Amino acid sequence: MNIPDNYHVLFLQGGESLQFSMIPINFLRGRNRPANYIVTGYWSKKAITDARREGQVNIIWDGSDEGFTRVPKQDELQFDSEAAYVYYTTNETVEGIQFPTIPDVGDIPLVCDMCSDFITKPVDVTKYALISAHGQKNAGIAGVSIIIIRDDFLKDIPDNIHTMLDYRPHIEKRSIYNTPPVFAVYTVMLMTRWLIEDIGGLENMDKLARQRSAIIYELLDKNEGFYKSHAKPDSRSLINIVFKLPTAELTQKFIAECAEEGLIGLQGHRSLGGIRASFFNPMPMEGVHALRDFMMRFQNKYH
Ligand SMILES: Cc1ncc(COP(=O)(O)O)c(C=O)c1O
Repeated sequence: MNIPDNYHVLFLQGGESLQFSMIPINFLRGRNRPANYIVTGYWSKKAITDARREGQVNIIWDGSDEGFTRVPKQDELQFDSEAAYVYYTTNETVEGIQFPTIPDVGDIPLVCDMCSDFITKPVDVTKYALISAHGQKNAGIAGVSIIIIRDDFLKDIPDNIHTMLDYRPHIEKRSIYNTPPVFAVYTVMLMTRWLIEDIGGLENMDKLARQRSAIIYELLDKNEGFYKSHAKPDSRSLINIVFKLPTAELTQKFIAECAEEGLIGLQGHRSLGGIRASFFNPMPMEGVHALRDFMMRFQNKYH
């Protein structure tokens, strides 16, 4: 990731849901400045609830009226110049929409939830004040989160925060302030070694992610009368592909018949329904081909 020396990397517990709290506790509490949140889907919306307990949250873009089918363009974003930070979700796992580029926020600290596309591609870490990602999607297993924080972002943290919720003791103790989730951290080591030695690094992972998703998006585009992609083309996620079938009955049939062929976990998130194919880092190309072949057969059978 080419993480510069003025950043710290932490291995913490509590999943991304704890980061929804730790970020505003450390960086919004006691400030007379608002935080700016970009709401692009289920997860960024959820992050706001806890942020509001700590201070003023200004939602500077909200995609809910459009059913969370796209991310904003740069010229749709207007930040409070005094914002404590700008927060966004790089890839909305539920809706399958992803920022194709990093928003330009000028000098305001940029914070992101990178859970679902963490280490799926090269990223310019220097654009961020804080990156957080739980392990369980691309980097290992549940139980550990990887937090990357820039030094200068730590200077205004209030002093009355409970120790476990303050980033600084974890930095001082190099992520062993208390008993760490050793096995989960170990899986991150195995995954990063696999990424470097077997895949050949983040550029290659990105190529793979593009190839995998292109196969399914191409199929969706060719068969729009039957399969309907949720995301607008310029916001499509390379990781989570969300689409609908013509009826709820066909959706249930799709899921059931997939399972008979060993294709599992394709049910869309309960908040959205439909189908979601998730191609996290370990998904082999064979899995993508199997899904594509199944989708063509299914369409021929029921269309
Ligand atoms: C983008 C994103 N953020 C946050 C979460 C919540 O993560 P956790 O279960 O680790 O709290 C998820 C869960 O899937 C997610 O996809």
